[in-house]
Amino acid sequence: MANATSLSGKRILLVIGGGIAAYKVLELIRRLRERGARVRPVMTDAAKQFVTPLSVASLSGDKLYDDLFSLTDEAEMGHIRLSREADLLVVAPATADLLAKMANGLANDLASTLLLATDKRVLAAPAMNVRMWFHPAVQRNLAQLREDGVLFVGPNEGELADGEFGPGRMAEPQEILGAIEDALRSDMAVPLPNQGGSTARLGDAPLAGKAVVVTSGPTHEPIDPVRYLANRSSGKQGHAIAAAAAAAGARVTLVSGPVAIADPAGVVTIHVETARDMLAAVEAALPADVFVAAAAVADWRPARAEHGKIKKGAAGNPTLALVENPDILAKIAQRKKNRPQLVIGFAAETEHVADYARTKLGKKGCDLIVANDVSQATGVMGGDTNTVLLVDRDGIETWPTLDKVEVARRLVARMGPLLHGVQS
Ligand code: CTP
Repeated sequence: MANATSLSGKRILLVIGGGIAAYKVLELIRRLRERGARVRPVMTDAAKQFVTPLSVASLSGDKLYDDLFSLTDEAEMGHIRLSREADLLVVAPATADLLAKMANGLANDLASTLLLATDKRVLAAPAMNVRMWFHPAVQRNLAQLREDGVLFVGPNEGELADGEFGPGRMAEPQEILGAIEDALRSDMAVPLPNQGGSTARLGDAPLAGKAVVVTSGPTHEPIDPVRYLANRSSGKQGHAIAAAAAAAGARVTLVSGPVAIADPAGVVTIHVETARDMLAAVEAALPADVFVAAAAVADWRPARAEHGKIKKGAAGNPTLALVENPDILAKIAQRKKNRPQLVIGFAAETEHVADYARTKLGKKGCDLIVANDVSQATGVMGGDTNTVLLVDRDGIETWPTLDKVEVARRLVARMGPLLHGVQS
């Protein structure tokens, strides 16, 4: 959870695109400043149709930058300097138009020019109509931008401004704030724009040439078009593992349930909603050398998802019949064909952590279990730290309480030797 000074002195260049979600950016600016960040706003012409430049400038406490050809701006501060005198560039809402410009290197207004000229990391919060979101052109641009190292937060699923339903809603200000903190805090090696997409590695590349598939986050199991079953998983641990594996040189596919954090840079991220979609995406990503099941997959789903919203009424309270979801970890660990050499599972327990973890190791058929106590008092679910036990057939190893990023690094450091051991 963000604290009052968590962004103290950080400089955010905020590029505001022209979408209905622009109104949420006012709240984002307020929260960023509350946490000590300095916000320099840039608006596209379209953005000014949705929020007034005056509100943006007064909330940010800086002047508004909006004109590529303004002589005073150019004299005071060239666009190159403007884009580099920031710790992070945030694009919100990132409209289909802005994403297309970014993906193709267009620079025909101040916003797109800054995004092209920067050597800093860029975090985008997309927002658009659901049909636009699923259009192959938009998906192509997103894939390109991920490859270029752009970070993403959202979009969320829900009812859109035009009455349609699906992914396309911009992430909430609080979620964008969390992604900004993650992006600034992360000292993982990530590709930066203007580096030819190359990834700066930490030390050597012990997983070079290896393929790693990671699941992360919760799954959402629909009850009807507006309701679902879910859990409190944030995806932080799984995403950190994917990032750490990429930093160690692996080719990483992250299959993520709905989360409010950014896609890790240098990783191919597949977004899914349900357990069944997650299983299909994992199977499609095989063969791989390592599979890490860090997702908090819903064990059950409603037996049927209603097509229309369930209404209150004379029928009384609805009853929810549940059926069991496929166990992704067990299915992958017990594959006859294309079983990854190393299969790592997590065990989320609230009591008898070591015992239950040992049982899970055998039942699922995996090679290693990372067990953690997720009872509420530990704050693991959604928090930044984790206290884990490593359980394999030879015994148990206890790790101290560590930042989730450090847990990820240590786990990834084990993969090389374990792969070697499995092979020999
Ligand atoms: N897992 C999975 N698919 C499921 C359920 C769990 O892949 N349908 C994976 C998780 O990603 C994790 C491991 O199995 O790596 C253990 O998850 P956990 O929730 O601790 O255990 P469950 O198998 O669900 O058993 P229980 O809830 O009874 O403890």
